[in-house]
Amino acid sequence: MQLRCLAPWCLVWLFYLISSSSASDDVVLADFESESYASWKATGDAFGSGPARGTLPNQMLVSGFKGKGLINSFYGGDASQGTLTSPEFPIERRYIAFLIGGGKSDQLALQLIVDGQVVRSSTGPNDRPGGTEELAPDAWDVSELLGKKGVLRIVDHASGSWGHINVDHIVQTDIQPKGYMLSAQRSFNVTSRYLNLPIKNGGPKRIVTLSIDGKAVVKNEIELADEDADWWAPMEVSPWNGKSLTLQVDRLPEDSKALNLIEPSDALKDAEDLYREPLRGQFHFSPRRGWNNDPNGCVYFNGEYHLFFQHNPYGWGWGNMHWGHAVSKDLVHWEELGDVLAPDDMGPMFSGSAVVDWKDTSGFGQDGQVPLVLIYTAAGNPTVQGIAYSLDGRRFTKYEGNPILQQITGGNRDPKVFWHEPTQQWVMTLYVEWQGRHTIHFFTSPNLKDWTLASVTQGDTTQGRFLFECPDFFELSVDGDPTRKKWVLIAANSDYAIGAFDGKQFVPDATRIQGHRGRGFYAAQSFSDVPDGRRILIGWWQTETKGMPFNQSMTVPLELGLMQTDGGPRMTFLPVRELDNLRSRTHSLKIDSLSPGDANPLKDIQAELVEIQVEFEPGDAKEVLFNIRDVMVEYDVAEQSLSVAGHRVSAPLRDGRQRWTIYCDRIGVEVFACGGLCYIPMPYNTRPDNKKLFFEARGGTATVHSLIVHELRSAWKNDR
Ligand code: FRU
Repeated sequence: MQLRCLAPWCLVWLFYLISSSSASDDVVLADFESESYASWKATGDAFGSGPARGTLPNQMLVSGFKGKGLINSFYGGDASQGTLTSPEFPIERRYIAFLIGGGKSDQLALQLIVDGQVVRSSTGPNDRPGGTEELAPDAWDVSELLGKKGVLRIVDHASGSWGHINVDHIVQTDIQPKGYMLSAQRSFNVTSRYLNLPIKNGGPKRIVTLSIDGKAVVKNEIELADEDADWWAPMEVSPWNGKSLTLQVDRLPEDSKALNLIEPSDALKDAEDLYREPLRGQFHFSPRRGWNNDPNGCVYFNGEYHLFFQHNPYGWGWGNMHWGHAVSKDLVHWEELGDVLAPDDMGPMFSGSAVVDWKDTSGFGQDGQVPLVLIYTAAGNPTVQGIAYSLDGRRFTKYEGNPILQQITGGNRDPKVFWHEPTQQWVMTLYVEWQGRHTIHFFTSPNLKDWTLASVTQGDTTQGRFLFECPDFFELSVDGDPTRKKWVLIAANSDYAIGAFDGKQFVPDATRIQGHRGRGFYAAQSFSDVPDGRRILIGWWQTETKGMPFNQSMTVPLELGLMQTDGGPRMTFLPVRELDNLRSRTHSLKIDSLSPGDANPLKDIQAELVEIQVEFEPGDAKEVLFNIRDVMVEYDVAEQSLSVAGHRVSAPLRDGRQRWTIYCDRIGVEVFACGGLCYIPMPYNTRPDNKKLFFEARGGTATVHSLIVHELRSAWKNDR
């Protein structure tokens, strides 16, 4: 292993101003703190009528500027263009230092012009979706120009993604700023499974390029720690075992230890507590390290459930979208395997689905082994759909004919594919922002490679949330009657429509029906090819995991159904029966009634992970409530409403009774009521020291038909 940061030919030095102690010597050329541009001249519409006061509408959070104002050419969005030119000034210090951010392009620059020539030029850091709006220090050595007259010009001739530039605090100084290394790199002979990378949450994002034989394989934006790491992100390098690999970082402070700190290893670093971390859901899936959002590619294949997921392996926040991968035999005990789809030239790997191609329509099968096919969004510019396949459910190959669907509009994404038996073809639902509306486009294909547009839903305006992102589409029986089937179209916030489908077009007979009733449940996806035909859904659960080396999680897997109600068929969400495998100790409490002042029936139970099953008639009680480790689950009898951790929803009695199933994990509770019509997932961080449970009636007596508390064991192998 060598550290090769200093070869002069591969280094460019940038500088930044470190100390304010020399401020009296410095000449501030512009701080952009006033309302107008004063003597600077603007052309075009990108710069507005004066400096921006921070972030502009529809822009990601702009940070890193000094004071309140800055130059921000996002007036009018990315499309607008223009220039902003300073009056002439004498060059009287050796360095010109400034803060710069925004897009990276020849068309976006802060320029120094001397004698009519551009003699220095800098641009922002972003040339791909994602990225950061943070301004960073940069500087020019202008010693050879001392005594000359210069003009500064800020140019925005770009439109489209990252078509803007941000600049602030331009200063002349004689103090040599601290240096930056550009293209610092370290090479490794790969003999171990991982490179453990030091991560500093909230640190500057560096572009880290992994190259093999001089060819860039993948680029990620990583908050590399210059010294003390908050946590360590494993970069899987086993595919290049025996080869020489180079990690190159676009820009590092000259004294950064980031590259030296990287540790090759077969194990995750600092992982003694893996799966026992204080805020690790014990029966909710979360990645070992990094960020997760949507479940992707949910499928049953070769005896295993596969859960892929939107994964940032190298950051605590969203970014660098990979497909993470975990498998389970029972939907409850998951083993994380490692990422299968990494960002490529077509962009980061956004959400999508998976199918088993039983008839090998794609031709990816081999020797009778049918392929598992992933259908994903490559969210570059353009944003397209691609496929990848695997025969063993472990190694995946991206199809060389990608993309299989060209861009329709920039935001088209999240293909969910299924086999439609009656018409013997594949059907894809795709989210498309189309003519100012959120729509779902239906496509059909004989082979997963060639797709034809079949129909487009009417959708919602882009101010609404209906049918926004991550569609799923499936058939369910009403009240379990196989002769009464309906199609359900559901999108990211889980609101749905019910109707009929002929293989090409969905005709809803009920629409905009509310799905889950809780918080932080999003982008759920159902499993394809489940052997017993159940429709099982799993959602991204936006749980709080501050201080952990991972962030977010999934809900428990949910079995979906349709129940006939007075308003028509409605979806039910119930926990899958496999969760019963987690029960370690069961308390069946024999109480017939519960009155104010009664002893707490749960006083002898102490448990961290809990499942409660209860069935009661409220009688003349005014409230019936549980306190589960501080999580309040309260039923208001007059209102027939249920409040979970302060979040209140309607929960009408059924046959005069309430029947609830409640799961409590470290990071939240999930309450199921009204036969599954009312599913309330609520992120909530329980306190490890409070393992108490209470059950209480207020204002009168409730009749309790059954009360069962199951203590649960962790689903993770590392459980003590
Ligand atoms: C939903 C979503 C998807 C997209 C993915 C990117 O949460 O925005 O539409 O594919 O996340 O991570």
